[in-house]
Amino acid sequence: MKSSVKLSVENLTEEPYATILCYPHTKPLEVANRILELKELGVQMVEFTGSGSAANVSVIGKGYTGIVIIAHTNSEQLALKIRRIDSGRENFFHEAEMLQKANNVAVGPRILAGSKNFLLSQFVDGDFLTKWLNDNKDTENFCRVIRDVLEQCWRLDMVGLDHGELSKAPRHLLMDKLDKPFIVDFETASIQRRVANVTSVCQHFFVGDSFVSKLVWETLGKKSRSQIVNALQNYKKDKSRQNFETILQICL
Ligand SMILES: Nc1ncnc2c1ncn2[C@@H]1O[C@H](COP(=O)(O)OP(=O)(O)OP(=O)(O)O)[C@@H](O)[C@H]1O
Ligand SMILES: [Mg+2]
Repeated sequence: MKSSVKLSVENLTEEPYATILCYPHTKPLEVANRILELKELGVQMVEFTGSGSAANVSVIGKGYTGIVIIAHTNSEQLALKIRRIDSGRENFFHEAEMLQKANNVAVGPRILAGSKNFLLSQFVDGDFLTKWLNDNKDTENFCRVIRDVLEQCWRLDMVGLDHGELSKAPRHLLMDKLDKPFIVDFETASIQRRVANVTSVCQHFFVGDSFVSKLVWETLGKKSRSQIVNALQNYKKDKSRQNFETILQICL
């Protein structure tokens, strides 16, 4: 594993770190502008650590829109999502707004700021939920965690906020060290679409043929697929608490 490196934002002009700040191609003017933007956000230090890798440097995560690293303000350690210059996204304003709406119903890492090139949020110190589910076979705890994820999805459904990528749940569900699950990455979230958070996650956990659904079957026992599909269809038509609880009852 690569060693972790902590440096002040001024030193982000150095390679290979400048490339992370402006992934995938360093542009000196862009680097300078981004350093200024980071200072305006109150970021003093950044840290290159984590199980991900970009430009041969350790990072927390790497997606198609951003590279996530650790940032330090004078009071906190945070997750910093850096906009890739090849991402096709103009800024993080929409993602920040959607994450704020999610935070209003106690979902997602706490948002600190969203700017043109950066999104600063609570650092979820842990791993992918899938890994946790694979390593933890205690039925009671397993159920509690899945129920927590479904309740979070329910709250998003109730405020009309569709995450949009929960069918690709493994990349977007994290677990912190206190066994608290987090939904991340609200960049494609919308308040215009029909919500499908509960149904997408249930499909993923209980209906589909994914690695996760196999883990769920192994730990909780195989459920009646047709009963689940039926309950999901009823919920799709009428997103009542009662219909949601029927899903919980059948699945857990
Ligand atoms: N607040 C956070 N705390 C800890 N890790 C995070 C946080 N936000 C994101 N990550 C990690 O960084 C990865 C990439 O983040 P994110 O999904 O937001 O980027 P993306 O470019 O939009 O990805 P994708 O291409 O999958 O849409 C996540 O899968 C996760 O592992
Ligand atoms: Mg994304």
